[in-house]
Amino acid sequence: MSGAWTLCLDFGTAYSKAAAAPRGVWTRFRPEHVRPLMLSGQEQGGSAFLLDSAVFVDDDRILFGRAALARAEELQHRKRMALRSFKTILSVSDLDRALNTGAPHAIDPHRLFPMRDLIVLYLAYLMSAVERAATADPMLARAEAIEHRYAAPAWRSGDSLGMHGAIQRLFGEAEAFRQAIGDRILSPQGVSIKKIADTLPAALADPHEVNLGLIFEATAAAAYTSIGLPDSAANMIVVDMGAGTTDIAAIARHGQRVDEMPGARVTLKQAGDFIDRIIANIVLEDKTRARNDAQQNELWRQLMLHMRDIKESLFAEGRAVLRYEQRAVHVNMKDVERDPDFREFMKTLTQAYDDSMAVVRDVAQATGATEVQTIAVGGGAAAPFIQELLRRRPPRSGKLLIEPRPATPEWAYAKEFQGNLAPVFPQLAIAIGGALAPDAMLSAKGGTSQAAGGRNGIRVERD
Ligand SMILES: Nc1ncnc2c1ncn2[C@@H]1O[C@H](COP(=O)(O)OP(=O)(O)OP(=O)(O)O)[C@@H](O)[C@H]1O
Ligand SMILES: [Mg+2]
Repeated sequence: MSGAWTLCLDFGTAYSKAAAAPRGVWTRFRPEHVRPLMLSGQEQGGSAFLLDSAVFVDDDRILFGRAALARAEELQHRKRMALRSFKTILSVSDLDRALNTGAPHAIDPHRLFPMRDLIVLYLAYLMSAVERAATADPMLARAEAIEHRYAAPAWRSGDSLGMHGAIQRLFGEAEAFRQAIGDRILSPQGVSIKKIADTLPAALADPHEVNLGLIFEATAAAAYTSIGLPDSAANMIVVDMGAGTTDIAAIARHGQRVDEMPGARVTLKQAGDFIDRIIANIVLEDKTRARNDAQQNELWRQLMLHMRDIKESLFAEGRAVLRYEQRAVHVNMKDVERDPDFREFMKTLTQAYDDSMAVVRDVAQATGATEVQTIAVGGGAAAPFIQELLRRRPPRSGKLLIEPRPATPEWAYAKEFQGNLAPVFPQLAIAIGGALAPDAMLSAKGGTSQAAGGRNGIRVERD
């Protein structure tokens, strides 16, 4: 399909995702319209749709994505770390100050880079990965014009447009940098610090004009949930448990218009990463498994390496097994549920959800609605405790129907996706919903740029 397309980026704490759809398909949807982008392309391991959000400052080079994580792991004994959760920086109230702060010593031992530089470098890497994936996609490669959007949590400060301006500027700087260095940024060897020092200052001083659309994450979730229902109205509560945060938001949708209910918005700083640490600590508590520091470090490393699969199995079957030094290490969901930190999290999460739900209930009742849809997105969507939340009935809700929606819609199993989309759908839901959403759902409208069609693949150079 040629013509005009929309592409939505979702840069998460752990993974960035992107998806594209032809413009205007929300009202006449077919699964084959959705093009989740293979951002990590040919890299080994993990899903091709997920790009690791990571930057690593090495001795004389900067590495990105999976290469950054691999190198950080090699140098763990030197207490070196990759920069990962920069998305959280983008949601602090004093953004300028946060961007100008130097990265911690473990991340940048040279003391060369303020956070801003590292974020701009990552965005340049992300945009190059997006362009590579879009060029490789047989449908998207024929697009004549592409409108870019990004998804963000609804900012608490209320100055959404100010934040949007600041983020567009970061993207503009990233684009200027990308033009200066070409696609070598996609190489597993990354880019030399010397090259960055030579080119980044000019890019920061003279950013490209970019015109991105902005869609709030909960709205994007509503867009995919409501696909094909252009004339309906719905009240929804969305729980997004990712790696870094669990966000709850509620919205009222009237056809293509979406209003967020500000009183229902909550962000908790506990999510996938927090649960990972609880699980790893439970395993390490049994000292017979790893007796000394070296063994404990190794077991921790193995656990983190396989944590996604461990959680998938824990959530689906209540238990998981890890092979470690020819032994089977068993983890039980019951042990997780007994953990004091986990219990505290459950209490806070349930309270926050109930408070948000009370707001939605009141709005639904005041407007004569008969049901509230409940939706989970993000990597943690399938967790039994999240699915349980979605079934909770608020008090004093009379005949109001509470309708949990599936974490993975039926169409994600369509043959076009060859079984690749459904297992990661909850993680891609925001990017996909953001690409499908009609303009009326945007918080800021973007412009359209000519597509990169006609390029012969991507140059990868080394300096
Ligand atoms: N099938 C699964 N079962 C359990 N957990 C999973 C599964 N798939 C992914 N995860 C976990 O989900 C998290 C990543 O989810 P997601 O991609 O939604 O996060 P993110 O968008 O990067 O983070 P955030 O939204 O907090 O910025 C990781 O903690 C990962 O281990
Ligand atoms: Mg996310």
